[in-house]
Amino acid sequence: LSDEFGVTSNAFLPEQQPLSRLPNPYYAPWETIVCALSSHIQQHTLRQEVDRLPVLSTHHLTTEPEWRRAYVVLGFLTHAYVWGGDVASEVLPPSIAVPLLSISNQLSLPPVATYAAVNLWNFSSSSPASDLTDLDSLTALHTFTGTQDESWFYMVSVAMEAQGGPIIPVMLSALSALQHHDLPTATEALNETTSCIHKLGILLDRMDEKCDPEVFYHQIRPFLAGSKNMAGAGLPNGVFYDEGQGGKGEWRQYRGGSNGQSSLIQLFDLVLGVEHVAQGNASPDSCSREKKMESFHREVRGYMPEPHRRFLEFVEGRYPGGLRKGVEDLLATSTTKGNDGERRELREAFTTATKSLAEFRNKHLQIVTRYIVIPSRKENKAKGNNLATASSRLPGDDKKTFISELTGTGGTALLPFLKQSRDETFRAGDFS
Ligand code: HEM
Ligand code: ALA
Repeated sequence: LSDEFGVTSNAFLPEQQPLSRLPNPYYAPWETIVCALSSHIQQHTLRQEVDRLPVLSTHHLTTEPEWRRAYVVLGFLTHAYVWGGDVASEVLPPSIAVPLLSISNQLSLPPVATYAAVNLWNFSSSSPASDLTDLDSLTALHTFTGTQDESWFYMVSVAMEAQGGPIIPVMLSALSALQHHDLPTATEALNETTSCIHKLGILLDRMDEKCDPEVFYHQIRPFLAGSKNMAGAGLPNGVFYDEGQGGKGEWRQYRGGSNGQSSLIQLFDLVLGVEHVAQGNASPDSCSREKKMESFHREVRGYMPEPHRRFLEFVEGRYPGGLRKGVEDLLATSTTKGNDGERRELREAFTTATKSLAEFRNKHLQIVTRYIVIPSRKENKAKGNNLATASSRLPGDDKKTFISELTGTGGTALLPFLKQSRDETFRAGDFS
């Protein structure tokens, strides 16, 4: 799994801890800026520092960890440059755009701050590499704000990857056991999966410990914004990646950073057989549309490291419909596979696992309420913003409209989107 798909005992985290610096002194100009990122942002000197940078070549990047490190550095510099001023910058200068495009091409990732850039490849741990589940010993290598809150926000996901690592082979064994009609093995693996999802929920609940909702909303989140489906953030046309040479370049639009790009959570969906459809496709008239819209979940696979994307495709191709399909087949046919007791236990274990994933999504929804919805309401009230003042006077349904207009950094209409995701998860476990 490791060689082919980059899956390790810590799930989608790399085998070795990420490099904290590019070893070749040629890249010192990048390292110097990124190490003082938050102070440059606070002192409004970041853009002039970047503008003064030479356009460095990527020829001196040799190993995979070096390419990843370069992606992390330039991903942070990109979002810092674009969002780190009074007004968003519509242009990304050649000193970042040129090398970043080359690195993204090499890694097959979009040229923005993805989950890989800020989470997977941006941590250091004071405990041995084998125990990255210990949240307290993890620190982010880089943050925009220099706050503990931001580091914690990223590290919760890193600890979750490590916590989820051991369950990956177990889930694969469940899929294979079911194909071979070994019901007890599949049941046991599903029970372990439930307990793993429960542990992930405990880690998610720890977000509050060191990440303050107001700090998150006002200081951290603006740097993760994107320019696709997020026009309100200030970049309706996207960003012009200036490749120099007399105006060569391109306008580009990308989704912002979001843990929705986590391969681990999508893996749970594929294994269990949870199906996500695009928001527009959930409406009854969607069948009449000629071309179905692509779901968020499918689209953001393009924001995952290429081996991880291939891993999800592999699981999906080898076990279409996941465990849901296998369990359904067993229940539907007058099969001779397993006895009644074994079939009942399997179905219960499966339903419990899907429920636990849906409960995890409920916890996440509560977090989104505390970290985005409530602070945004307060902000609007404080500003005396027309919308908010109007909204506080509006009857219930209109208030709902106002809240549903909020957009996630990943470019979704966040509450309806997240509720739909949760409901789709519950649905996978329902055989009635
Ligand atoms: C999606 C917010 C932490 C997993 C989203 C979305 C928002 C959001 C707004 C909708 C997509 C978009 O950005 O447009 C938050 C906030 C967090 C947080 C405010 C903490 C302060 C996490 C963590 C995980 C996570 C720690 C861990 C895996 C996901 C997933 C999705 C998502 C998997 C995609 C939707 C789904 O599959 O249900 N998040 N998130 N989030 N988030 Fe988070
Ligand atoms: N996706 C998260 C948000 O919208 C980070 O704030």
